[in-house]
Amino acid sequence: MNKLLGSIIVFWMALSAFSQTQTIDQSVEELLQKMTLEEKIGQLNQYSSDWNQTGPMTINPNKQTEIKNGQIGSMLNVIGTTYTRQYQELAMQSRLKIPLLFGLDVIHGYKTTFPLPLAEAASWDLPAIELSARIAATEASAAGIHWTFAPMVDIARDPRWGRVMEGAGEDTYLGSKIAYARVKGFQGDGLGNLNSVMACAKHFAAYGAAVGGRDYNSVDMSERMLWETYLPPFKAAVDAGAATFMNSFNDINGIPATGNAYIQRDILKGKWNFQGFVVSDWGSIGEMINHGYVTDAKDAARAAITAGSDMDMESNAYRYHLAQLVAENKISIELIDDAVRRVLRKKFELGLFEDPFRYSDPDRQNAAIFNPEHAKIARDIAAKSIVLLKNEKQILPLSKETKSIAFIGPMVKLKRANHGFWAIDLKDVDSTYIVSQWEGLQNKVGKNTKLLYAKGCDIESTDKSGFAEAIKVAKKADVVIVSIGEKHNMSGEAKSRSNIGLPGVQEDLLKELQKTGKPIVVLINAGRPLVFNWTADNMSTILYTWWLGSEAGNAIADVLFGDYNPSGKLPMTFPRDEGQIPIYYNHYNTGRPAKDDQDKIYVSSYIDLPNSPKFPFGFGLSYTTFQYSDLKLSQNQMNSDEVIEVALKLSNTGKYAGAEVVQLYLKDKTGSVVRPILELKDFQKVSLAAGETKTIYFKIDKEKLSFFNQKLDWVAEPGSFELLIGASSADIRLRANFELTN
Ligand code: NOJ
Repeated sequence: MNKLLGSIIVFWMALSAFSQTQTIDQSVEELLQKMTLEEKIGQLNQYSSDWNQTGPMTINPNKQTEIKNGQIGSMLNVIGTTYTRQYQELAMQSRLKIPLLFGLDVIHGYKTTFPLPLAEAASWDLPAIELSARIAATEASAAGIHWTFAPMVDIARDPRWGRVMEGAGEDTYLGSKIAYARVKGFQGDGLGNLNSVMACAKHFAAYGAAVGGRDYNSVDMSERMLWETYLPPFKAAVDAGAATFMNSFNDINGIPATGNAYIQRDILKGKWNFQGFVVSDWGSIGEMINHGYVTDAKDAARAAITAGSDMDMESNAYRYHLAQLVAENKISIELIDDAVRRVLRKKFELGLFEDPFRYSDPDRQNAAIFNPEHAKIARDIAAKSIVLLKNEKQILPLSKETKSIAFIGPMVKLKRANHGFWAIDLKDVDSTYIVSQWEGLQNKVGKNTKLLYAKGCDIESTDKSGFAEAIKVAKKADVVIVSIGEKHNMSGEAKSRSNIGLPGVQEDLLKELQKTGKPIVVLINAGRPLVFNWTADNMSTILYTWWLGSEAGNAIADVLFGDYNPSGKLPMTFPRDEGQIPIYYNHYNTGRPAKDDQDKIYVSSYIDLPNSPKFPFGFGLSYTTFQYSDLKLSQNQMNSDEVIEVALKLSNTGKYAGAEVVQLYLKDKTGSVVRPILELKDFQKVSLAAGETKTIYFKIDKEKLSFFNQKLDWVAEPGSFELLIGASSADIRLRANFELTN
């Protein structure tokens, strides 16, 4: 009886959801019928306000009139309840009163900022990552924003590329999980809820593989690599319900992504049945002229709309050329209708036709922005993002009884830099809400600890005149903390570096400080993996602190003093030298693999560099130690309908409570196409009290064993597999073999 009732309820719910979409689809059709061609094209046109630009601005000075004429469907970079309301009021003067969509790059927080997305990925904490996107959405939606241009889900294997800071790193599995979590976080309980914003998975596709790590550069990539490595996080974003996609600046195998029908129509809207809309990247439709793919803006508009780019960000190509293309029969009206339907559907789903001003509520804005609860969460995830690279002499955690601490370096007193790149408010930033590293330390220590400061040097200059003061200060202290790194705007869009070392004389400063013989803790702030071999080899204690957002200072202090035991693990391989790039853990074995770093004779190696990285993917230490034991498989053979249950014990063998990311890798020993030497296929972040042991369970099913075969079908092939459980991709603690029979 209960079962029957349950089924009736489920059926009724499904029916009402169905009829709701029916209503939206019907409303879209009704509206579409009323629209002139020019009004339709207006919906596909997006302009920026003037305050923040990430490319050349549109030449059109008359945006306000165009909004009233229904010639603009969306604006980016209009923020705050006052401005969004003003712009929306203009749209309400248009003939059909179709509301504007307000989009913005809410990349890692709105006003309360969180660690850079790459840093956050180092937490391997999916609920925390989802929560940070949730809070970003809560604040942004309260400020009138409907749509964030995030998450960036591009896989990145080249740390020279400045945009590595905006993604989840090099790994497809971790990247897919994070893509899913971020989309869920931004969209919350679904569009239409006031605290949800539309997510935008970007940049479709393969933008992260720009040749030489130079931003906007071409991409030349095999189908295999595209499907195996670069597409899965986008698919995960579709599965999570991402409302929109953004295409990318690069060409892929000779076709610009913006004009690429294979990518946008065949894969995204075809095979993956994506129902949302695709926005171009800034000016990328017009840039197809520079690519040499189209002759002029009109040709660009034709190529882009044909290939499935629904909305034109800042190219003016759709606005001025689509109508003529229709008149000349060069594109069909159905193509335009399809794009318009996709845009309108989202406006209905957001509830903007019921109330176009529903997101522009000053009371909600005041309550949401800089809410103290958000700061608490930002502090927690910032601490979780820090990676302990070395603690050889157990200098960390510091005692709160330490009598004197010298805090030295160019990063110590910086305020707004802690936001990192792509923080929306860098223009009119309110520094009150940013906790500098200096303030964080001050907040942490008691009256009996004396804090000393010296800058030592600038980040980039070669001036060493501050060294003497820094040495003097260091000599007076019991412990020295040195905060160095790359500037916050040395990573990000258009911030590729050919040399990813520590800039300026920062490493020289460390060399001088080392001579004092004082215990030194090094903090490295950066938006990418850096190369810092002297520091890594000569300093005993290193924390990689990235850029951690509004609560950076407090979070760093929490980790320094052991109020949070570091648990971060690197989401990207750290090279020894730029010459190793691209470097990633899940490479193929080759026919002549080197046995180890010394093996050089006619094997795949460099004669002047080891193959191994400086710090491997998945690496990160803790103040405590973890022991892995008792690996058990429920069976060592399975067929493709079966599941192998994996159990192992994890013990905290040190004296601090802590969390460990237990990583499960698989190696498919032989395949009809070659397989990586190991691939991350699962992980769990496990918290343990000192002395505690827990049993950890994983499941191996057909999905985990599958890959794209030569025909690019997703298959699991019978054969032998190795299961590897590790604390990083290079620190495998437990192994077992098993077979897939059929
Ligand atoms: C260009 C960037 O590539 C993209 O990620 C961003 O969303 C747009 N500019 C809008 O600012």
